[in-house]
Order: sequence, then structure tokens, then C-alpha cells
Amino acid sequence: MPTLATTVDGLKLPNPFIIGSGPPGTNLNVIAKAFQEGWGGVIAKTVSLDASKVVNVTPRYGKLHSSDGKEIIGWENIELISDRPFKIWEDEFKKCKDMFPDRILIASIMEEYSKDRWVELVERSQACGVDAFELNFSCPHGLPERKMGAAMGQDPDILDEVVSWVMGVAKIPVWAKMTPNITHIEEPSRAALKAGATGIAAINTIRSVIGVNLDTLRPEPSVEGYTTPGGYSSRAVKPIALRMVMEVAQLIRKEFPGRSLSAIGGVETGNDAAEFILLGGDTVQVCTGVMKFGYEHVKVMCEQLLAFMEKHKFETIADFKGKSLDYFTTHADLVKRQTERKAAQKAAADAKKMVQADGEWTGNDFVRQSNDLAR
Ligand SMILES: Cc1cc2nc3c(=O)[nH]c(=O)nc-3n(C[C@H](O)[C@H](O)[C@H](O)COP(=O)(O)O)c2cc1C
Repeated sequence: MPTLATTVDGLKLPNPFIIGSGPPGTNLNVIAKAFQEGWGGVIAKTVSLDASKVVNVTPRYGKLHSSDGKEIIGWENIELISDRPFKIWEDEFKKCKDMFPDRILIASIMEEYSKDRWVELVERSQACGVDAFELNFSCPHGLPERKMGAAMGQDPDILDEVVSWVMGVAKIPVWAKMTPNITHIEEPSRAALKAGATGIAAINTIRSVIGVNLDTLRPEPSVEGYTTPGGYSSRAVKPIALRMVMEVAQLIRKEFPGRSLSAIGGVETGNDAAEFILLGGDTVQVCTGVMKFGYEHVKVMCEQLLAFMEKHKFETIADFKGKSLDYFTTHADLVKRQTERKAAQKAAADAKKMVQADGEWTGNDFVRQSNDLAR
């Protein structure tokens, strides 16, 4: 019987499904619900020291539906980080660890470009007993205007500096969460890992405009008639996330063996999770999927992932982590492999005097020539 239980960076998880930072981990009520429903871990909504600077608007979500209107394919948000005071969060982190001492609670943190502020945020959060940190270097909207979030994650030098500040005081694992809004995700990932981050989490949302209302001619989501580009998530982003997770996994394999990878982007099923693990994820995070299907959906995903493991006779997550990574190569290598295979096939056919083009049928050896072409 396979097991989903896994240990990553010393964190013992009953399964690899972690709530991704966002509305599903936005206060103690919902975090408790996640643990009760069986989530492997929870990454709380991103916190900062001064919530008074965080002012959200409504509407702040926009959805892309399938053409029959029945399915949500993509989801844009212009939501900021938590607008709840850090003092309340400190209290809730403590209460949460009292209520669920054995469950993994990860604080997602973000601050301005100031060593004192990052150090204070790390020290105060870890004093509350959280199990690990995720550093949000990746929010694509609102915060970059204050040189936070993706603005930091797009600058490897700043990233190196900020991760070093955090690693100087953190006593628990630290994952750096990457933005996909960059050409080569390996560059900021390498900077964070060089500075000592325990692992990488990828990806955050993709900068987007969800659509334009053809009645009002206003882009959406429309706030007082105006909008701002937001972050795209849900099923539509999975192929991009898989590619970026693969790239980070290759980097970790080559340059930072042993560091962890938390894969994120459009996960809704156990099979989605299996794909991300096959491409190097230790854990998978789900954010929009929880908003679409509810907390109880983790049970379905666990069953699906177990069924995949049973089918392939994998006993543990480690048995198949990164197993599909070996099958990525360059296009030139694909051409070489195909040319070699065709040449070998032709040589075999030549040796057997097999018909390879219609002009080669002789009439004398017709039955053998026909049989050779049958499977
Ligand atoms: C409404 C919403 C709010 C989010 N807020 C945060 C946040 O506060 N911090 C963060 O690191 N990521 C945030 N995210 C990004 C998610 O954690 C995740 O990286 C992204 O949505 C892709 O995963 P998904 O397709 O499973 O949602 C948010 C996503 C959504 C949809």
C-alpha cells in the first residue's frame, strides 16, 4: 500500500498537498478548516508588518470560462497581501500551533527593501511557532509599485541580499517563492539558493488582463471604471507552471542537490500533482483550486494520487519525484535521435528486404512482403 506521507526539509507532512498562500489561508478559521479536512500543510496569506498600507478593492477577481460557460479555466486577481494587522496574525499563528501542534503551518512574508523590517518580521513570526517561511518575492500587482513582491523577485541582486538577511535570523526552513513574470526563472532561483534558501516555491500568478467588457468597453475587473493588470492562476497556467517547475528542478539537480521545490500552478487533481512531482516537486500547492472546489477536495486529490502510485507500483513520493526530468533535451538532440532511429529502422528493413516504398513490391515474393508489413 503506497503512502502519501512525506518529509520535506524536516517538515513531516501527511500528504504533499499544501494550501498555497491566498484566500484559502487568510485567517485562523479557514486554516483550521484546511487542517480538519486533511491538507498536508497550509501557507498562510502573505503578511507584512504594516497592514494599514494594504487597501484592497472590489471587485478584485475576474474569471475566464470555457466556451460552454460551465468551467472556470483561468482566474485573475488584483488582491493584495493580507490587510489584517500583524499583531492579530501573531496571535492566530500561536493559536493555530496550539490547536494543531503536529500540522505544518508556513508563514508567507513580504516586506519593503529594509533589513530591519525583514529581520523583525522573521523573528516575530518564528517566535509564534510557525514551522517554515515562504518569502513572497512574486506578487505581480500593487506591491511592485512599492518595490515589493515581483519587483524584488525580478532582481537577483536584491533577492540575494534579502534572502541573506532572512537566513541570518531564520531558524526554520525558508522557501523563496518565484515570479513567473521573468524570462529565465533559473536566475532569481539561483540567487535565492546561493544566498541559502532551503527551497524554492514556483510559480506565483502570471501578470494578466482577464478581458474587456464589450458593452461598457472597460477592461475587467472594473473598479470605478478602471482596472490594473493582475495575476493569472488556475488550470490555464498549468503548462507554464510545469515548464518553470521543470527548469527550477533541473537547476536544483545540477547546482543545489538536496534543496526542495514546492510546485504551484493550476493543480486541481491528483494527476496534476503527479505531473508536478514527476518534474521535480517535493510538494504541490493549491490556491485557486480550493476557491473552485472547497477544502474537502483534498480528499479526492489524495485518492487520485494514490491510485496513480498504485498503478505504477510507487510506494512513496520519493519513488517518482523527478522521474520525468531525464526526458527533456534540446531540439537539435530530438532531431539527432529521430534521424538515428529512422536510419536503424531502415537498416533493419534493408536487412529483411522489407518493402519501404511502393516501387519495391516485386510480385515474386508478394506474400512474404505482405507479411513483413503486418504487426
Ligand atoms: C485571490 C488570490 C490571492 C493570492 N494571494 C497571494 C498571496 O497573498 N501571497 C502569495 O504568495 N501568493 C498569492 N496568490 C498566488 C497563489 O498562491 C498561487 O501561487 C497562484 O495562484 C497559482 O496557483 P493556483 O493556480 O493553484 O492558484 C494568490 C492567488 C489568488 C488566486
